[in-house]
Amino acid sequence: MSDMSAQVGIVGAGPAGLLLSHLLHRQGIGSVVLEIRSRSYLEQRVRAGVLEQGTVDLLNDCGLGVRMRREGLIHHGVELRFSGRSHRIDFGELTGGRGITVYGQQEVVKDLLRAREAAGSLPRFEVADVSVADLTTERPVIRFTHGGADHELRCDVIAGCDGFHGICRPSVPDGALTEFDRTYPFGWLGILAEVAPSTDELIYARHERGFALHSMRSPTLSRFYLQCEPDADPADWPDERIWDELRVRLDLDLAEGPIVDKGVTPMRSYVVEPMQYGRLYLAGDAAHIVPPTGAKGLNLAVADVRVLATALGRFFTAGDDAGLRAYSETCLRRVWRAEHFSWWMTSMLHRFPDDQGFEQKLQLSQLEYVTSSAAAAASLAENYVGLP
Ligand code: FAD
Ligand code: DHB
Repeated sequence: MSDMSAQVGIVGAGPAGLLLSHLLHRQGIGSVVLEIRSRSYLEQRVRAGVLEQGTVDLLNDCGLGVRMRREGLIHHGVELRFSGRSHRIDFGELTGGRGITVYGQQEVVKDLLRAREAAGSLPRFEVADVSVADLTTERPVIRFTHGGADHELRCDVIAGCDGFHGICRPSVPDGALTEFDRTYPFGWLGILAEVAPSTDELIYARHERGFALHSMRSPTLSRFYLQCEPDADPADWPDERIWDELRVRLDLDLAEGPIVDKGVTPMRSYVVEPMQYGRLYLAGDAAHIVPPTGAKGLNLAVADVRVLATALGRFFTAGDDAGLRAYSETCLRRVWRAEHFSWWMTSMLHRFPDDQGFEQKLQLSQLEYVTSSAAAAASLAENYVGLP
């Protein structure tokens, strides 16, 4: 057994855990990040790709934006497709010039890992048997094994940034947290293809055969999503079937290229309240999940961590815990707005298997509305680019 200590022990080296460690370091606060996966696994895991303006601003302000400014693609609108029509939602016009940046989550993670490396503070990768205890004391502990040896990390505060399937949230005693949950009767098949995007802006398509999304990562890399069965096996989706289905649902003359990544994501909405128990603070997917249709998951994780890093700064430098006490309530306001928006976008654009036609009529009416009323379009736009 080897003992260590840190001001903040962070479980999970996803965007939330890594960014928290970086923001704390900039305030002179020490942290140790523990991660069950390897560095190369984290750098290759393909996930989200849309950064809100507020996320971009934060990454720039804390010195992480150099490559993002060079390689990120700035978009000022998205296209909605339905009933054989296409309509552009103009973010620039509707939100006073705001936009989004298309830059892959795995690129954000690579930039974060490089910054941690430069600071001499890389996560401990490939740890196992992680557990947390003594959460209601002033010295909570994280126990784990690494390289075959048992370790104990004593801290002042633990940040649970270990995603939806992590161990932090389930370590809170029954009854202390309330869960709000919804699952959807479909999933997304995510596809990464080495081919130039066939569109300048993202296309969200509602189609009788199901939802489809055309996104991108670079001028030579396209990202697509297809609504599929929630438990679909990617093996049932050979490349030819994917291209045929994309072409029909997007109603687009698509350029094809080698598919280099394929994976199924189930869809759910989930929030736990409060996002804190004793000295354990939950951030990102550990505390909430949104269906990906509004591209909010990564942005919410960043927003949580911004609030937590500021609160921890006050706590460690001035002994003031007001920010920590307000942490959950502050975050949950944004979380529930994003939950609603993601649920709403999902409901408007997907095919629901049990629907007899009523919901389809509502969807079409809603789509007609957001594409014909400036007020409705502005509501979609301001939520999509991110509220302050
Ligand atoms: P994560 O990125 O999940 O990071 C948590 C980290 O904790 C992981 O590295 C994990 O290995 C580690 N961990 C887990 N358990 C332990 C443990 N016991 N001990 C130590 N470490 C642990 N959002 C979108 O907006 N668009 C998308 O297209 C999209 N696609 C997605 C596809 C998938 C398969 C998933 C799972 C999510 C997707 N999301 C998407 C959501 C978005 O990627 C997440 O919201 C974002 O990753 C949240 O960051 P995080 O740091 O909170 O959690
Ligand atoms: C991407 C993911 C989303 O969930 C979304 O709504 C838009 C784009 C993407 O991965 O590029």
